[in-house]
Amino acid sequence: MRSSSTLGFAEAEKAARFLARRWKGTPRIGIVLGSGLGGMAEQLAEPHRISYRAIPHFPIPTAAGHTGMVHWGQWNGVPVAILEGRLHLYEGWRPDQVAFPVRVLAQAGVRHFVLTCAVGGIARQAVPGSFMIFSDHLNFQGANVLAGVEEVRWGPRFVDLSEAYDPGLRALARQAARRLKVRCFEGVYACVLGPSYETPAEIRALRWLGADAVGMSTVPEVLALRALGRRVLALATITNRAAGLVMRPLTHEEVIRRARESARRLTGWLDVLVPRIVESASR
Ligand code: HPA
Repeated sequence: MRSSSTLGFAEAEKAARFLARRWKGTPRIGIVLGSGLGGMAEQLAEPHRISYRAIPHFPIPTAAGHTGMVHWGQWNGVPVAILEGRLHLYEGWRPDQVAFPVRVLAQAGVRHFVLTCAVGGIARQAVPGSFMIFSDHLNFQGANVLAGVEEVRWGPRFVDLSEAYDPGLRALARQAARRLKVRCFEGVYACVLGPSYETPAEIRALRWLGADAVGMSTVPEVLALRALGRRVLALATITNRAAGLVMRPLTHEEVIRRARESARRLTGWLDVLVPRIVESASR
């Protein structure tokens, strides 16, 4: 495990105050960029950024394709904060460390979150280059960020997850995708620990259990944010067919390359979606 001390509420408060002092106003949306999607932060107008290293208590990511930067600025006229540099359990981080950056944004007043990630496609329509809007998830990570000593300021531990992924935000994402002809579907995300890819037998089992796509991230952040009552939308870029569904071996390089290829379309989708999310919040 990296660093022994738990990242608790006091640490998050310090980091949140540090960021809030630099922001002109509170960002309306927090966006988490997944593997290979880091370049999307270049989209911001009036851009500012700061390394995770400079922020009190922020863990420093190590995975290829994740640099560790908080960006803020205007996305199509909307003040947003972007987390580039996701932390994964497979790197040896604990759940409290993985969820820390989104908890800090939430603590600093951010109310809506768009989480992005790269996934392997299991469902028939989950082909490389398409996108999945999370409708639900299966947590097979063997960990839960809400387990452990209770911290009531981070919300109830027995969190209802019957609508983990906000139905209103999902509808907005579907509408924007239809308008832009972005190829997407709604489906169930199976979250595994990694870092090895799955075996073909595991993919057959996941499909049988109702999974449409598989990945190694996002769920810890979703659990932390839902406990805090934040609205969450999760969008995945399908970078590959999952193990056993194609005859080629999977590589991390291919996943990153495919995600980078999708980043432009995902950016266009968010151009439409980001203002709609804010409008829907003020109705
Ligand atoms: N499996 C798990 N995680 C992934 C995959 C996959 O096939 N592709 C991208 N992230």
